[in-house]
Amino acid sequence: MTIAVTAATGHLGTLVVDALLARTTPDQVVAVVRDAAKAEPLAAKGVAVRLASYDDPDALKSALAGVDQVLLISGSEVGKRVQQHRNVIDAAIVNGVERIVYTSAPQPETSTLPVVPEHLATEQYLAETGVEHVLLRNNWYHENYAQALEAARQTGSVLTSAAEGRVASAARADYAEAAAAVLTATGPVKPVYELSGDIAWSQDELASTLTDVLGSPVTVAQVTPEEQAAILVEAGLDEGTAGFVAAIDAATAKGDLALANGDLSALIGRPTTPLVETLRRLA
Ligand SMILES: NC(=O)c1ccc[n+]([C@@H]2O[C@H](COP(=O)([O-])OP(=O)(O)OC[C@H]3O[C@@H](n4cnc5c(N)ncnc54)[C@H](OP(=O)(O)O)[C@@H]3O)[C@@H](O)[C@H]2O)c1
Repeated sequence: MTIAVTAATGHLGTLVVDALLARTTPDQVVAVVRDAAKAEPLAAKGVAVRLASYDDPDALKSALAGVDQVLLISGSEVGKRVQQHRNVIDAAIVNGVERIVYTSAPQPETSTLPVVPEHLATEQYLAETGVEHVLLRNNWYHENYAQALEAARQTGSVLTSAAEGRVASAARADYAEAAAAVLTATGPVKPVYELSGDIAWSQDELASTLTDVLGSPVTVAQVTPEEQAAILVEAGLDEGTAGFVAAIDAATAKGDLALANGDLSALIGRPTTPLVETLRRLA
């Protein structure tokens, strides 16, 4: 069984390769990367490294030759990803892969998160092709709150417009372990996993966790999405990024990140890593 992991040099990809190596042997793992130099640590672990950009259909076809399963880790170039993901899916199908596993976003059919349309379009393309596939709908990473941690260190507050919306985030390593569990499963797997942390926390709980981690009081500054975007622009963010952050909080307020259904802990066979643990490591 040969398993290819795309974006293997990314934060998640690197953790997936490690999680696969804990469950299988290096000769069964292919790291598909666009930057050979960045992949040197992966090559040192004994996995095959094959070069292909998501923008290069021919290179992707060569990179996925002889592969049984592909983990397609969603790309990071927002706006280009639907075509890029199609390129990977087409290359996998040409090579006759048995299954594609795709890292998607939570509940994309109903979510208002601004990142969702590209994930939904990729899911729809997978369905159209008829290829066997598994959707790993990853909720937010705990690591996304590294910036909130730094801001809280500087200002003593968490700026948010998420109101009472909860976030069922989980550590990247937990999602990586879940991906490896699906890719190496010998029994049946579900077609869709809504992967998230066991606990969906509120902004007040985030602030109290940051208070613990930093050892100094952190409070919540609740504002409207418009106020949030304006404050972020004032602080030096470009308007697009500020609007993006505010749109994520608006979706959070609607509950788009709140689902904590136990799919992730069931796959990894243990409770998910608590937010406080990841924030302590980041601090
Ligand atoms: N759930 C969440 O909270 C969350 C947060 C952020 C992102 N995401 C999504 O999850 C994915 C994985 O997360 P991550 O933390 O591992 O992100 P990351 O560290 O930024 O990694 C992104 C990976 O995508 C690769 N990539 C980007 N464009 C590519 C292209 N044109 N061709 C080939 N590879 C390309 C990058 O290659 P290089 O290593 O060469 O740069 C990198 O390996 C992200 O790409 C994004 O879609 C989810």
